[in-house]
Amino acid sequence: MVVMRRYTPFSVAIIILLLFIMGSGSVYSESIDRKVNDMLSQMSLEEKIGQMFVVEVSTVMERRGPFGTSGRIDTRKLKGLTNVGSIFSGGSLRANPVPNNPATWTEMINNIKQVFNDNSRIPVIYALDAIHGNNKVIGAPISPHNLGLASTWNPELVERVYGYTSDSLEAIGVSWNYAPVLDVARDPRWGRTYETFGEDPFLVSVMGAASVRGIQKSGRVCATAKHYIGYSGSENGMDRDPSYIPKRELYEVYYPPFKKAVAEGVKTIMVNSGEVNGIPVHVSKWLLNDLLRMELGFSGVIISDYADISKLHDYHMVAKDYEEAIIRAVNAGVDMFMEPDNYPGFYRFLIEAVKEGTVSEERINQSVSRILKLKMELGLFNEELKDPANAEKIISNNSEAVELFRQAARESIVLLQNKDNVLPLSREIKSVLVVGNCAESMGNLCGGWTINWQGPEETDLTTGKTILEAIKEKVAPGTRVDYIKYRLESIDIYVKKVLEAASDAEAIIVAIGEEPYAEMMGDVQNIQLPADQIKLIKALGNTGKPVITVLITGRPLAVGPILNSTPGLLLSFLPGTEGGNAVADVLFGDYNPSGKLPITIPKYTGQLPLYYNHKPGVDYDPQFPFGYGLSYTSFEYSGLTVKKQHDSLQISVDVKNIGDVGGTEVVQVYINDVYSSVTTPVRELKDFKKVYLRPGETRRVEFVIPFTKLTLYNENFVEVVEPGTFEIQIAGFSRRVKI
Ligand code: BGC
Repeated sequence: MVVMRRYTPFSVAIIILLLFIMGSGSVYSESIDRKVNDMLSQMSLEEKIGQMFVVEVSTVMERRGPFGTSGRIDTRKLKGLTNVGSIFSGGSLRANPVPNNPATWTEMINNIKQVFNDNSRIPVIYALDAIHGNNKVIGAPISPHNLGLASTWNPELVERVYGYTSDSLEAIGVSWNYAPVLDVARDPRWGRTYETFGEDPFLVSVMGAASVRGIQKSGRVCATAKHYIGYSGSENGMDRDPSYIPKRELYEVYYPPFKKAVAEGVKTIMVNSGEVNGIPVHVSKWLLNDLLRMELGFSGVIISDYADISKLHDYHMVAKDYEEAIIRAVNAGVDMFMEPDNYPGFYRFLIEAVKEGTVSEERINQSVSRILKLKMELGLFNEELKDPANAEKIISNNSEAVELFRQAARESIVLLQNKDNVLPLSREIKSVLVVGNCAESMGNLCGGWTINWQGPEETDLTTGKTILEAIKEKVAPGTRVDYIKYRLESIDIYVKKVLEAASDAEAIIVAIGEEPYAEMMGDVQNIQLPADQIKLIKALGNTGKPVITVLITGRPLAVGPILNSTPGLLLSFLPGTEGGNAVADVLFGDYNPSGKLPITIPKYTGQLPLYYNHKPGVDYDPQFPFGYGLSYTSFEYSGLTVKKQHDSLQISVDVKNIGDVGGTEVVQVYINDVYSSVTTPVRELKDFKKVYLRPGETRRVEFVIPFTKLTLYNENFVEVVEPGTFEIQIAGFSRRVKI
C-alpha cells in the first residue's frame, strides 16, 4: 500500500525554503567556481604564474645594511611586484614595521593592499605566523605556545585563544595564519617541540582541529596545517634532518592530525622542509598528490616552506639547478612558493618551463584556481582597508583577551611534585626569596616566535608581568619578597649570594628554565636540566627550607637530579605574557592546577625516543608519564562500567573530589586492542573530559566511543576495526569488552 502524504501550501513553502537553504552551500561554491574559471580564462600565463609566489615583505622594504630593512615600504619596489599572489612577514625583525605597534602594522598592510588595488586586478593575501597570539605585534598579548595549550586538555579554550588571535590578525589586515603546527613531537631534542601539541596523535588532532576552527571562524582568515608530513620524525631529533618513517608509522602517528584538519576544512597546508625516506616532501608525488589530494581529499592550497624550493638544489641536491627544482615541485603538486628572495628568477624559469612543455599549463591552472578560490572565499576581492584605531582597540590593552590568555596560562601549568603539600603557599607568608633566570624575564615566558624569530628583547613585551612582579603583587602587604638577580657569569658566586639571602626566607621560589630559541637554533643534544640550575637547586635543597621550583621550558627536560631538593615543582611550557600572573595564581592557591602532560618527561637523553603509546615490549620508564599532573586536591575513581551499543561503547565512571578544595580533573580514556593482526600500542588515548568538582562532590562522567575510533591499519593498509577484545583503561582501572 502506498501512503500519500498531504501537504498544505504552508508546508510546501517551508520545504522549498529548506531545500533552498540546504542547496545554497553548493550554489555558492558553484558560483565561486564559475567566477574562478571566468577570471582564469582572462589571465595571461605571466599573471597566473605570479599568483603562485609568496614573497617576504622585507623584499619590498627600504634596505638597511646587508640583511636589515628600515621597516618602511619602498613603493617603487612594491609596484614592481604587484603580480605576486601573497606577501608575508617571516619570523625575523626585518619583516616588522618600524615602529612596531598595531596601528603601524595596519598602515603597512593597507599601504601594500592599496598599491595592489591600483596596479593589479587580483588582491594580495597577507600572511604571517601567529602561532601563539598575534605574536609579531608589540603590544599584543602572547598566549602559551601549543605545548602549553595542549597541557590544558581544553580544546574549547584553545579554539577561543586561536579565535581571538584570528580577530586580531583580521584587524591589521592579515588573512592567512601559518598555524597550527600539527607535527607530533617524538623527540624533545627538537627545537620546535614547544610549537607542537605534544606526542599523542589523538590529542594533537583534537587540539589542531580546535585551532583550525578558531582561526577560520569568521571565514575571513585561513589556517595552515603544517608541516606536512613527518617533519618531527627526523632520525636524531634535529630540525630538518632526514627522517625515515615506515609507512605504518606514517599512517599511525603523523597522518591523523592532518586527516582531522582536512575534515575540519583547513584551507591551506604547508609542506615539511625535510626529506622522508629519501625524498624531499616538496617533490614527493606520493605524499603531496596520492596521499594528500587523492586519499585525504584536500582541495585547498599547498604552500612550500621558507626558501625550500632553492634548497632542493643547494641542500637536498635532488635538482641540478633551480629550474629543475621548481619544475619538480610544481609537478609534484605544490601550488604556492614561499620564496622570500628568489622570486624574479623563479618566475622567469617557470614561464619558460610552461612554454617548453616541462610543466603543463593545465597544472598551472589547477594551482591558480585554488589560489583564486581561496582569495574569493576569504572575501579579498571586495575587502575594505582596515582602520588602525580599531586594530589598536582590539589588540592593545584588551582586557578580555588578557583574561582569556591568563586562563589558558593557568590551565596549562602542570604540578609535577608537591611533597608534604608544600604548595599552595599562604599569602600571609612572612618572607619569600625569589631566584633564578626566569624570575624577572618576560622573554623567557614567551620563548621563540615572539616579536622576533629567536625571541624578543625584554623591552618588546609591554603587556603582562614577570613571575617576580606577579608574586610581589600577590602576597600580603606585610610579606617581604627578596630577589637575587640571576648572573650567568659565575654560578658559584650566584649560589653563594642566594644562600646568604636564604637564611632569612620562609620559602624559596626558584624560577628556572630555557632562554628563547626557534627552529634549528633550539636543537639540543641533551635534555638534562643544565648543570648550573641543578647546582643552584641542590644547594638550596640543603638549606632544609621549602624550595619550590618553577620550570619554564619549551620541551621536557630531565629533572631527576633536582627532585629530592625541591618538594614543590611546577612546570610551565612557555606560558606567554600572562605566565607570571598564572604562576603566582597557582603558587598562592588562587588557581588549583589542572594541567596534564601532553608529552612524556624522560629520565635520560639516552631513553629517546620515549612515548607512552609505544608498541608491546618497550620498557616505558619515564620520570613523569604522558597525562600526568597533580592537583591541590585528590580524586577517587570508582564504578567503571562499559556497555556495548550497536556501533559504540558507552563508558562511565564515578569521579569524586576527596580533598577539601575544589579542583578540576582531566578524565582520560585509553584503549588497547588486545589481540590484533598487526601490533597496536599498549594504550592509546581515545577521549577525555575536564570536570570541576567541589570538595566532596562526585560526578558520573560518561563517554561514547564510536567503533570508528577503534580502527587500525591492517597489513594492506586498509583502516578497519578488527573484531576481538578491547581493554578500556581509566585512571588505573580497566575493563575488557568484546566487539
Ligand atoms: C618555518 C615555518 C614558517 C615559515 C615562515 C619557516 O622557517 O619552518 O613554520 O611558517 O618559516 O615564517
